[in-house]
Amino acid sequence: MLELKDIKKIYNPGLITEMCLFDGFSLTVPDGEFLSIVGSNGSGKTSLLNIICGSIPIQRGSVTVNGENITGKKEYKRYRNFGRVYQDPAMGTCKDLTLLENMSLADNKNRHCGLGGAVNKKRADFYKEQLATIGLGLEDKLHVRVGSLSGGQRQAAALIMATMNPIDFLILDEHTAALDPKTADIIMEITDRRVKEMGLTTVMVTHNLRYACEYGTRLIMMDKGQIVMDKAGAEKQNTDTKDILAMFNAISIECGN
Ligand SMILES: Nc1ncnc2c1ncn2[C@@H]1O[C@H](COP(=O)(O)OP(=O)(O)OP(=O)(O)O)[C@@H](O)[C@H]1O
Ligand SMILES: [Mg+2]
Repeated sequence: MLELKDIKKIYNPGLITEMCLFDGFSLTVPDGEFLSIVGSNGSGKTSLLNIICGSIPIQRGSVTVNGENITGKKEYKRYRNFGRVYQDPAMGTCKDLTLLENMSLADNKNRHCGLGGAVNKKRADFYKEQLATIGLGLEDKLHVRVGSLSGGQRQAAALIMATMNPIDFLILDEHTAALDPKTADIIMEITDRRVKEMGLTTVMVTHNLRYACEYGTRLIMMDKGQIVMDKAGAEKQNTDTKDILAMFNAISIECGN
């Protein structure tokens, strides 16, 4: 279970550009939940993921994982049981290394070792097996430089790299946004399969309202650092894109847009 309690986040404290994004923000994500987060630009979605992953400091509040308070825990240490995929396929992979080298780096994220050693055959076979599960033929491209793969292929590889070792939490920040609609659908299908197979607790930020409705077990909408809609179970199943759009419109009318 992931718990955020009474979070306060101020950007640029003490400066003229000071901005309080969260004040008293709380969120509980039970084990096995697949939470989709929607919300307008600047509503705080990426900041929330950054707080969960320890990428940015907070002024107050706590982040707890399975009962352990990890508020002060360093980002790289959290990644032992967190996998994260970003909007930009370039963020999750290194373009100048081969797919094999990228997989090996991801595989060794919890160990102190460099790139020096050759990847043993058993591990290479494991990487191939993992890549084969996504059905894009990437298992035959282990020796290809990742920079020469397409964005969709790269994002699929990033997803496999983030989830190939046991993790508890998968964090997705608009991970299909840079892809064409067909490839985005493929990546979303692969994501859903992977989440179910591995029983991952998942937090997915998306601007794709269809994905937010069709996938996942809970849906929240954020606005100005607050949760303005929260639907789970049957209530979520009965929510369609029109309902979410109506909520978006209501919010922007309130803002005078
Ligand atoms: N590093 C930063 N320094 C100062 N302000 C920031 C920083 N990062 C984000 N903000 C501000 O915090 C607010 C929330 O930003 P955030 O990136 O979390 O929004 P978002 O919901 O992910 O938006 P988008 O849908 O555009 O990705 C915005 O007003 C943004 O300008
Ligand atoms: Mg964002």
